[in-house]
Amino acid sequence: MAFYICTNCNFGSASFLGKCPDCGEFNTLVKADDDVEKPRHKEEVKKLKLTSLSKVQTTRKERRKTGIAEFDRVLGGGIIPGAVILLTGEPGIGKSTLLLQALKDMKVIYVSGEESAEQIRDRAERLSVNMEHFYFSDDLQIEGVIKGAEEEKDLIELLVIDSIQTVYSKEVEATAGSVTQLRETTNKLVTFAKRTKMPIIIIGHVTKDGEIAGPKTLEHLVDTVLLFEGEKVSNHRVLRANKNRFGSTDEIGIFEMNESGLAEVSNPLAFLDDLNSQEGKSIVGVSEGKRPLFFEIQTLAVTTMLSVPRRVVKGVDYNKVQLLLAVARKYLGLKLDTYDVYVNVVGGIDIKSTAADLGIIASLVSSISGKPLPPKTVYIGEVGLLGEIRPVYFQDRIIDEAKRMKFTSVISSKVIKNIRDLKRS
Ligand SMILES: Nc1ncnc2c1ncn2[C@@H]1O[C@H](COP(=O)(O)OP(=O)(O)OP(=O)(O)O)[C@@H](O)[C@H]1O
Ligand SMILES: [Mg+2]
Repeated sequence: MAFYICTNCNFGSASFLGKCPDCGEFNTLVKADDDVEKPRHKEEVKKLKLTSLSKVQTTRKERRKTGIAEFDRVLGGGIIPGAVILLTGEPGIGKSTLLLQALKDMKVIYVSGEESAEQIRDRAERLSVNMEHFYFSDDLQIEGVIKGAEEEKDLIELLVIDSIQTVYSKEVEATAGSVTQLRETTNKLVTFAKRTKMPIIIIGHVTKDGEIAGPKTLEHLVDTVLLFEGEKVSNHRVLRANKNRFGSTDEIGIFEMNESGLAEVSNPLAFLDDLNSQEGKSIVGVSEGKRPLFFEIQTLAVTTMLSVPRRVVKGVDYNKVQLLLAVARKYLGLKLDTYDVYVNVVGGIDIKSTAADLGIIASLVSSISGKPLPPKTVYIGEVGLLGEIRPVYFQDRIIDEAKRMKFTSVISSKVIKNIRDLKRS
């Protein structure tokens, strides 16, 4: 029996549908292979092989450092032999640039179905890549790629596939980029990496919503999933790990995109234009991994014309903002039913930390009252359902950094206990 899977949300259906009933996208359902279980009852009972872990070689010390320290940090200290890393991000955000720059002194096979050798060469020149051991190919049959990489495995340190949506396996009928092809090609690459210990970096496209195009299983198959994000209009880019079998997923890498490629950013104020005060603006201190960072939150609350007021949120979790609005309504008595509320994090970065909660509420209060918050003030704190302000992970480090960065006032759980106290601070 045929089975269809939505390439956008992984919804499954026994019949073909033009529109996915789950995510609402059109023309995303593709035919999947029948996963016919082979009869296993005829198999012999296998003898169990046991290996003492003490006899297994450790790979910990063998991490290969790349040309970008921030890249290594996000990976957990470098590239592990045999690791399969999936790098995703919106079109044009700089994935190929990041890879070329990180691998510039390594011996690499770069398989590209996206760009010609000339295009890659021009970019490599601009990024001062050591081109002698940088091999390009636009052959997209995965069996051929694997065979070629295997033959060169003494010469080559790493294999890059740009992108997984353009390569295909000869053993599957479906077109490149379909669910079956994605699964098959990734599977083959993973098997190859584990067998030969050659690390592989796979570039994957994302859909409009930032999901990796293709089945979720892609994420399960690989060791590490990296997300490269930012707004194309701004120069800042952030690299983070959504999954990492070899390190924490807390660390992020921050870059600035310029003519000579990506420059690593270490200034915690990199995302702020100034420390001035303005109606609806607050500055929050958060930690991404072990690194303190400061962001500007902008909130605009305007009288609504609608029966259900609008809530538009960018850069922080939508449901989190809904929750904070409910808390603000209850404990600050704000008449939020009569306001449309827009919340934005300046710089196009997603803040995952709960440390921004207090600053979001402070900027809301400021927008509704029309009064700017005190200048050179930073807000750090998680807000609970009772309006209480909780200390956050790494709070003391963020506070120290704020003082070093010439903020004159830090509002955190050390200064106020409940959002009601905001009015007095
Ligand atoms: N000469 C240049 N000077 C400065 N920046 C450049 C230059 N050429 C390209 N860029 C930047 O590099 C970005 C494209 O980077 P890159 O091709 O690495 O992205 P990508 O994520 O691999 O894109 P795709 O999804 O199309 O493969 C452009 O958006 C642009 O900002
Ligand atoms: Mg590219």
